Amino acid sequence: KIIILDFGSQYTQLIARRVRELSVYCEIHPFNHLPVFDDTVKGVIFSGSPYSVRQTDAPQINLSLFHNKFPLLGVCYGAQYIAQHSGGEVVPSTIREYGRANLQEINAQSPLLKGIGKDSQVWMSHGDTIARIPDNFDIIASTDTVKVAAYHVRDSKTYCIQFHPEVTHSIDGKQLLQNFLVDICGCKQDWTPDAFIETTIAALREKLGNDKVVLGLSGGVDSSVAAVLLHQAIGKNLHCIFVDNGLLRKEEFEQVLDSYKHMGLNVKGINAKDRFLGQLAGISDPEKKRKTIGRVFIEVFDDAAHEVQDVKWLGQGTIYPDVIESVSVKGPSATIKSHHNVGGLPDFMKLKVVEPLNTLFKDEVRRVGKTLGINDSLIGRHPFPGPGLAIRILGDITPEKVAILQEADAIYINNLKASGWYDKVWQAGAIFLPVQSVGVMGDERTYENVICLRAVTSVDGMTADWSHLPYELLAKISNEIINNVKGINRVVYDISSKPPATIEWE
Ligand code: XMP
Repeated sequence: KIIILDFGSQYTQLIARRVRELSVYCEIHPFNHLPVFDDTVKGVIFSGSPYSVRQTDAPQINLSLFHNKFPLLGVCYGAQYIAQHSGGEVVPSTIREYGRANLQEINAQSPLLKGIGKDSQVWMSHGDTIARIPDNFDIIASTDTVKVAAYHVRDSKTYCIQFHPEVTHSIDGKQLLQNFLVDICGCKQDWTPDAFIETTIAALREKLGNDKVVLGLSGGVDSSVAAVLLHQAIGKNLHCIFVDNGLLRKEEFEQVLDSYKHMGLNVKGINAKDRFLGQLAGISDPEKKRKTIGRVFIEVFDDAAHEVQDVKWLGQGTIYPDVIESVSVKGPSATIKSHHNVGGLPDFMKLKVVEPLNTLFKDEVRRVGKTLGINDSLIGRHPFPGPGLAIRILGDITPEKVAILQEADAIYINNLKASGWYDKVWQAGAIFLPVQSVGVMGDERTYENVICLRAVTSVDGMTADWSHLPYELLAKISNEIINNVKGINRVVYDISSKPPATIEWE
């Protein structure tokens, strides 16, 4: 495996994803919390950082642990750090070094730059520049403005680059990473979905033996893939619970439950609609809605989990981005965990936790799911928030509003699917606005509610753009909703990006 040491760069996860795309397993660890470096480690990458190496409180690391012990690739801050701490000099740059640049001079003999030609476009993003390198460092690439764009420490496997190979604007970034991983570190590129499935199933069998596991399914990709993996490992000892909170999409509970059963999962569907909607009645505040739904879910799930005799484990679909320990930029106090009272937790939360996907990124979960034979309609589903339609009905929630929103949402989503747009947007949904407006139907004046349509493109939900759906498609959806959904006489489209708006309205 490859260890990526994180110095706090916004691009660290992207480096890890690129390495994984090259079928090499890697892990991210904070620079100040080092993992064990045994002989499974084939190479080390130092990430960039928001800090300047010239700052007195900049992240520090003992280079002698790595240099000449492992192949080492320093990126941006990593490159500057290694230069500065080996006798070179880093100074603030006098010219703009942000954005696209082209490699002008390249040492074609360098294994790091194999297959990368002159003029190759790279992405720069740094405020400092390496002004001087030690005598035993060789520059292996330069741009017009950055003399030390890449260097090699003579007689070693330490390579450093000032630019970011992980962003797609660095056209040959993937080739460079492959050169480092395969030619310099000797990695085999055998981290594939098949290999993951095989080793994970073996590890789960070893870990769980004859124990029973209970797992909550949500209809989403992560919990579904986790369930199928666990099922292949321990079969009927996996007990799945799928709760209908009354806030799912139209007919979603029945359809998804059906497909789970088809996959052979041992799944219990629980209709708790009335319990959720009863507890939500009269609540308008978004955070109170979320808390209420969370509390009722725990109660319902705990009851259901109690029905499984002698259960020892709680299965969860946690994925890698949720468990990566982030570098604290506010000093050690920010990383102190609050103490919690285990005695007050519901029983299922006292179970041991098994998380078979906690080393995978989302796109890898999808690939593993596909390889496991889970059908595309489940794997390709848009993200859907845990509180479901509750946070898409602004204001208080009633069964009537839920029914109206389910109808409008179904028309919207079906049209996206039929037109081929469903797979082009990252997430889409309809929102029920607490606004009434005047309309006219036939000779009648109406005074009814408004539905807002939302569709966004995004990579991870952190930032998002509104999708430019064709006018004709929006017109068709609007007509169908207004003509078929009683209680709605107006449809609007949300053209806000995130930030400053959010994807959901609540
Ligand atoms: P926002 O609205 O913050 O949403 O831009 C980003 C992503 O998170 C989802 N989301 C939630 N998911 N529980 C969830 O499980 C929630 O309370 C919640 N709120 C937002 C949202 O659907 C989008 O994918």
